[in-house]
Amino acid sequence: MSTPAGRRLPRRSPRRRAALGAGLAGLLATGLLTGAAPAPASAAPAAAAAPDIPLANLKAHLSQFQSIAQANGGNRAHGRPGYRASVDYVKGKLDAAGYTTTVQQFTSNGSTGYNLIADWPGGDTDSVVMAGAHLDSVGSGAGINDNASGSAGVLEVALAVARSGYRPDKHLRFAWWGAEELGLVGSRHYVGGLSSSERSKIDGYLNFDMIASPNAGYFVYDDDPRIERVFKDWFAARGVPTEIETEGDGRSDHAPFKAAGIPVGGLFTGAGRTKTTAQAQKWGGTAGVAFDRCYHSSCDNTSNVNDTALDRNGDAAAHAVWTLSSGATAPPPGGVFENTADVPIPDGGPAVESPITVTGVPGNAPGALRVGVDIRHTYRGDLVIDLVAPDGSAHRLKGSGTDSGDDVVATYTVDASSEAAGGTWRLRVQDVHRYDSGHLDDWSLTF
Ligand code: TRP
Ligand code: ZN
Ligand code: CA
Repeated sequence: MSTPAGRRLPRRSPRRRAALGAGLAGLLATGLLTGAAPAPASAAPAAAAAPDIPLANLKAHLSQFQSIAQANGGNRAHGRPGYRASVDYVKGKLDAAGYTTTVQQFTSNGSTGYNLIADWPGGDTDSVVMAGAHLDSVGSGAGINDNASGSAGVLEVALAVARSGYRPDKHLRFAWWGAEELGLVGSRHYVGGLSSSERSKIDGYLNFDMIASPNAGYFVYDDDPRIERVFKDWFAARGVPTEIETEGDGRSDHAPFKAAGIPVGGLFTGAGRTKTTAQAQKWGGTAGVAFDRCYHSSCDNTSNVNDTALDRNGDAAAHAVWTLSSGATAPPPGGVFENTADVPIPDGGPAVESPITVTGVPGNAPGALRVGVDIRHTYRGDLVIDLVAPDGSAHRLKGSGTDSGDDVVATYTVDASSEAAGGTWRLRVQDVHRYDSGHLDDWSLTF
């Protein structure tokens, strides 16, 4: 079953993908995720302001997570009953608020893990704004700052969307990840299950991991500049200085999204690292002490929370979700084009090509043309990949090398502003070394 080569994806009938969890695939197949096309940029009203996220609501969720841990052997860790109870708690709130929820299962370390995904019906499903947090704790405690804080923040933003009847131009999706503490297992599983076109439709992913550290700093991820700017502006307007997050880049669930070429951002109040004198001067708190001295310890309970940080970060999260999902910035005019026909790539052989014919997009291609590539292969270092424009000019996406990873599941950004958008584009793939081989599964162009 495949889309005819180069056919423009119809907005109202997204294709079912076998790679997705059964629940989400079913959701896509029934078209629940589709919504109205965005208003033209010129007609887009100014973005509605995000509501205040009540600190009391955030703290009530933290108390519930603490009780869940207490009733389940003291933790909410992957594979333990306190994790499943945490999923049920969040899911219950979202279902009651009108969300379409999906529990995605995976296996890690011999135990079943769960991601919880919640879609807010409506908005342009070709432009998805995601926000997420890991819901698991370590085994040694209740995990209230790490990461009931982020989980509560994302939950309250989602509930605020429902309470306010917000109808974003873009599609909103919220996620609570399992088994982050075992190495980003849940978020990797989710991203790995998306097709290239599904990945290319995610405008941005916002991550919230540890947003209420008792000796808090205000750290903004230094990734996608637009997302970073939205957060920094919010704090600057309130006179709260921020710093760039440097305590282990890639140590949370934004990393798989970033690796797949999806713009990411997020907030963080610090983990085991020590607050400096300069940081204590600008933020308060105690110099020479860790941002969270209960990090991954049994004392990460409801006492291990900085209310001011939780309050600010909850409000900043809402602000970012509102700002990034409104159509105040122009949506891409052209949409997504995809070719899902499998093409075998001969081992150590000649290049193969897969076409996509683009129609209905006037003028030149964008300066940031997104090329989603999904190649299944046993040694990706063998592969040379080019995007060939309608006039025959080639843009190198990837050269060969000694990269022993397997598949190429990536979104490349190409400056194609010198190319006419309309016409037949080709993905050219060559396997230049003998022994390992594979096939092109799917690729897409987002204009
Ligand atoms: N993700 C880590 C944990 O859950 C905490 C962490 C360390 C972190 N460095 C980070 C989170 C940087 C976000 C950004 O244990
Ligand atoms: Zn942790
Ligand atoms: Ca080979």
